[in-house]
Amino acid sequence: MRILITGAAGFVGSHLSEYLLRDANHSIVGIDKLTNNYEPEIKNRNLNYLINHPRFQCLPVDLATDDLNPILQGIDVVYHLAGMPGVRSSWGNEFTEYVQYNILATQRLLEACKGKPIKKFIYVSTSSVYGEMSGKVSEDLKPDPLSPYGITKLTGEYLCHAYYKSWQIPIAILRYFTVYGPRQRPDMAFHIFIKQMLHNQPITINGDGKQSRDFTYIEDCVEGTAAVLDCDACIGKTLNIGGKEKATILEVISILEELLGKKAILQFGPTAKGEPKHTWADISTAQGLLGYNPSTPLKEGLKRELDDLLKLYNLKLP
Ligand SMILES: NC(=O)c1ccc[n+]([C@@H]2O[C@H](COP(=O)([O-])OP(=O)(O)OC[C@H]3O[C@@H](n4cnc5c(N)ncnc54)[C@H](O)[C@@H]3O)[C@@H](O)[C@H]2O)c1
Repeated sequence: MRILITGAAGFVGSHLSEYLLRDANHSIVGIDKLTNNYEPEIKNRNLNYLINHPRFQCLPVDLATDDLNPILQGIDVVYHLAGMPGVRSSWGNEFTEYVQYNILATQRLLEACKGKPIKKFIYVSTSSVYGEMSGKVSEDLKPDPLSPYGITKLTGEYLCHAYYKSWQIPIAILRYFTVYGPRQRPDMAFHIFIKQMLHNQPITINGDGKQSRDFTYIEDCVEGTAAVLDCDACIGKTLNIGGKEKATILEVISILEELLGKKAILQFGPTAKGEPKHTWADISTAQGLLGYNPSTPLKEGLKRELDDLLKLYNLKLP
């Protein structure tokens, strides 16, 4: 199959591209504009393995402005991961970029898919669409996002449904729950904590550290995402992609202390606006439709992220 992956130089997009290329029947057209949410050097590093792969091609296209029609010629499946992620920076002036990269880019891509023989359009959304919920959340709960980021991603979901109903674009929506592991974005909590501990700096925690998240290891996330390719029953559906383990921020820090062999210095700050206290995925839909079964324990996944960050920052553990 010829697969288009938007956001291919990003954290998840680069892993997904590598995973799908393991099947010799697939070739991938990656799109990435290398937006400025973090250093382009890190995105280029994400592409290291892919860039010389004979069945991978990366195009520096901006989904929000460039002509997408030629790129979609001959494409069988679209994975749409490009976007502006992150809750905290979605307040204030940067909201313009969230609108541009999450809403406008999605609408332009869907528009360009109209009338083309696309077998699936897989849109990657987020647990942030749920807002504050208690217990496990299932896909049929009414979304109630707390942040501008969540609102733009939910708008992307609604656009997908509109194009599915009126133009029969065969969409499937995946809602990721906090993904972590090698290449995690530098603005995400585990990356920040590990970097701070490696440099003997205090760990900055928003709130009391008792907030909990359903943490999804990158390989589990990518396995579930790739499985949608062969799932015709997923068309028109929304699926939660959660992880094997849920934990509080303080629990994560104590695992990191064990892995790094030192105590963290904790610095508590105000609670971040727009973030729910807890997230927890009901993954039964993905289990039923995809056989999705996240299996990486948190400690193992954190160890692999730590090893990757040691390489990124050219550091060694004592
Ligand atoms: N990482 C997570 O924990 C997580 C959780 C929930 C949802 N998501 C969603 O998953 C997707 C991927 O997230 P990520 O963590 O890999 O982020 P990322 O920032 O590493 O990757 C996104 C990529 O999209 C590219 N991009 C953005 N706008 C573009 C445009 N207009 N044209 C071309 N390229 C563009 C960026 O340059 C970037 O490389 C996002 O849609 C995000 O909302 C991620």
